[in-house]
Amino acid sequence: MSVTSPKACVFGNPIEQSKSPLIHQMFAKQFGFDFDYSKRFAEPDEFVVSAIEFFSDPNVIGANVTMPFKHDAAAWVNELSEQAKRAGAVNTIIKTSHGYKGDNSDGIGLVNDFMRHNVELNNARLLLVGAGGAAKGALPALIEAGVKSVSVYNRSADKSEALVAFTRTYASNTLLTTFKEQAFLNALTSDAPIEFDVVINATSLSLDGKLPSLPVGIFRAKPAVYDMVYKQEPTVFLQEASKNGCSKCIDGLGMLVEQAAHSFYLWFGQKPDTKPVYDALKAM
Ligand code: ATR
Repeated sequence: MSVTSPKACVFGNPIEQSKSPLIHQMFAKQFGFDFDYSKRFAEPDEFVVSAIEFFSDPNVIGANVTMPFKHDAAAWVNELSEQAKRAGAVNTIIKTSHGYKGDNSDGIGLVNDFMRHNVELNNARLLLVGAGGAAKGALPALIEAGVKSVSVYNRSADKSEALVAFTRTYASNTLLTTFKEQAFLNALTSDAPIEFDVVINATSLSLDGKLPSLPVGIFRAKPAVYDMVYKQEPTVFLQEASKNGCSKCIDGLGMLVEQAAHSFYLWFGQKPDTKPVYDALKAM
């Protein structure tokens, strides 16, 4: 690697498992340059110290940020993109001539992965399961993609209500609802049952092989089903969807590649081809 290679990293804790260096190096290769992209572990209260130290190197052009530092990064940067403001989190830092800009490529990554799988989001009736950081990060781009309605279902109803209230501040044309457990069951089993075109699992439950407690009625209209988690085998959520007749069941590996591609674009103004990178990761 030459001394003038552009430099970036991903901050996280834990960070060992990150595939980001591999993905970004494959992207850079497509454009014929070396990209010095590394993983950076930081203690929970040391993001800012670690970021200042990393960015003191003049070859650094930016960074990615993963759990648990997306909020710390949003507070540290000098300016926020509209996406980052709405997501309430930063996963991409861009070094500019006047400081640091925070952006968020997670939602755009998810939308681009839906596009790659030919899932129509425009006018879609969406069920979003979960109301944590992943759900909040995805919503701005999904709304921009033109979903007609969003129903948020979460174990803790106060969190889904807060997410919907915040989303209303920027999504005036989208029908936003939140369901408590019994009301949701009623809506799914009434004479004119609620139906979904797209179902997204934005909880982390699949990592532990667990299912959110949801009636199978959510699969009635045979929606496209997305799990933000990815594993070697289909996640339990996708297995459940498949068992109930859904044929479009997509895991989060594509979102990982697509969000990285958008970060790469934010740094270099070039859009990498995601397919060969996705195929390479899938084959590992
Ligand atoms: P992330 O940033 O990955 O979204 P998070 O903010 O902790 O992480 O949110 C995790 C999501 O998974 C939340 O929607 C959470 O539900 P609560 O708001 O009720 O906590 C959901 N989740 C986690 N464990 C769960 C479980 N055992 N059953 C149901 N939902 C769960």
